[in-house]
Amino acid sequence: MTDQAHGEHGESRRDFLMLTAAAFSAVGVGYTVWPFISSMNPSQDVLALSSTEVDLSAIEVGQRVTVKWRGSPVFIDHRTPEQIADAEATALDDLPDPEPDSARVQKPEWLVVVGVCTHLGCIPVGQKPGEVTGEFGGWFCPCHGSVYDTSGRIRSGPAPTNLPVPEYTFLDDTTIRIG
Ligand code: FES
Repeated sequence: MTDQAHGEHGESRRDFLMLTAAAFSAVGVGYTVWPFISSMNPSQDVLALSSTEVDLSAIEVGQRVTVKWRGSPVFIDHRTPEQIADAEATALDDLPDPEPDSARVQKPEWLVVVGVCTHLGCIPVGQKPGEVTGEFGGWFCPCHGSVYDTSGRIRSGPAPTNLPVPEYTFLDDTTIRIG
């Protein structure tokens, strides 16, 4: 992720949305948003975190943010009503890895998935405003062209399975603990 990808300062501010969160584990405490991590080389204790608590209250409808959990990016998508409708209306026969949207979310407006392509482990694009989201409005993996939908399900390309849903719990209406 480079400065060129951010454009003017106004756009960068949106990417650098400040969230409050805390992470808990036996080995340390930490939290970050992916754009920071990508330029800071996270330390081993951050990578080893076993659970991460995230405050969702600042994430607007239609906004996506990335948090770090156990060394991997986790995509959090505050889905729009249209994105939810698309995900719920998709026929299972159209899915290489059939899974209803209802089995992938705890609350329809919040999609939480591990942002690692299930083909060879690249990080799909689509998290930041202006990035390619692919034919189905989810995420696109430019490594070999896998396309994911608004439920994080693989729709085309070589990835064999959907983006995984990590174990997470709603602690209250706007706070989740991942892990
Ligand atoms: S790693 Fe994503 S398509 Fe190959």
